[in-house]
Amino acid sequence: MISGETTLDVRRRLPGVPAHVGIIMDGNGRWAAMRGLPRIEGHRRGLEALRGTVRAAIDFGLDYLTVYSFSMENWNRPIEEVADLMGLLKRFIRNDLGELHKSGVKVKVIGGRTDLKPDIRALLDEAEDLTRSNTRLTLIVAFNYGSRQEIAAAARALAEEVAAGRLKPSEINETLLSQRLDTAGVPDPDLIIRTSGEKRLSNFLMWQAAYSEFVFLPMHWPDFDRHAFETALAEFSARERRFGRVTAQGQNGKTKKI
Ligand code: FPP
Repeated sequence: MISGETTLDVRRRLPGVPAHVGIIMDGNGRWAAMRGLPRIEGHRRGLEALRGTVRAAIDFGLDYLTVYSFSMENWNRPIEEVADLMGLLKRFIRNDLGELHKSGVKVKVIGGRTDLKPDIRALLDEAEDLTRSNTRLTLIVAFNYGSRQEIAAAARALAEEVAAGRLKPSEINETLLSQRLDTAGVPDPDLIIRTSGEKRLSNFLMWQAAYSEFVFLPMHWPDFDRHAFETALAEFSARERRFGRVTAQGQNGKTKKI
């Protein structure tokens, strides 16, 4: 955001700002290794980058920002690193919740809660309860999240409803399954950004990303800043989204793209 600019000015400068952006915050470890620092330092700086990104998302006028903070697969990391990431989540909620609430941010957490320690579960509940009525930006923290596990849980919920006689198998459709995902009620992400040059989804929002645009940035997550965010949004604005349909030109019978 250029100094003195309002959210409306940014919207004018970056037409077609997406409603929902998902971010795979990758590269903290490499950022630290390149500097001869311990991995935790990369995660700490990653938390700083996340803070700036939330502020930018508010300024850019996004409605939803989903960040991949801890995947179900991340439990396989060394025990100390897992503890560090849990500690950072606690620090984020304890230090930033007041500020997030004041800024009108609604916090929502997706992912498995039962595997988390009671103090973390309590903090996540507190964050959601306090900010439930906020409407400026919904910050969705994917923590202990895995898309396959989320889809399997939704399938299980539907199967239980069938077994209980409340639902017929023939009634199951995309809408009913979507409504049983952790993201029920949240529009699908328009744009997914991944830092650190990797080009994969890594079990993040796989159902929801069916028609998302992807922007892959070479920088490591701690270096992601407002300028990088704007670059990704500008690239998104320049793309043509067809959702499986033909282009306007195609409809006129000239070119057909799928
Ligand atoms: C990926 O980098 C990043 C993570 C697994 C954790 C993301 C965490 C933060 C951005 C900060 C903490 C924020 C919260 C809310 C807990 P990597 O470690 O896989 O990096 P590498 O691929 O270079 O090793």
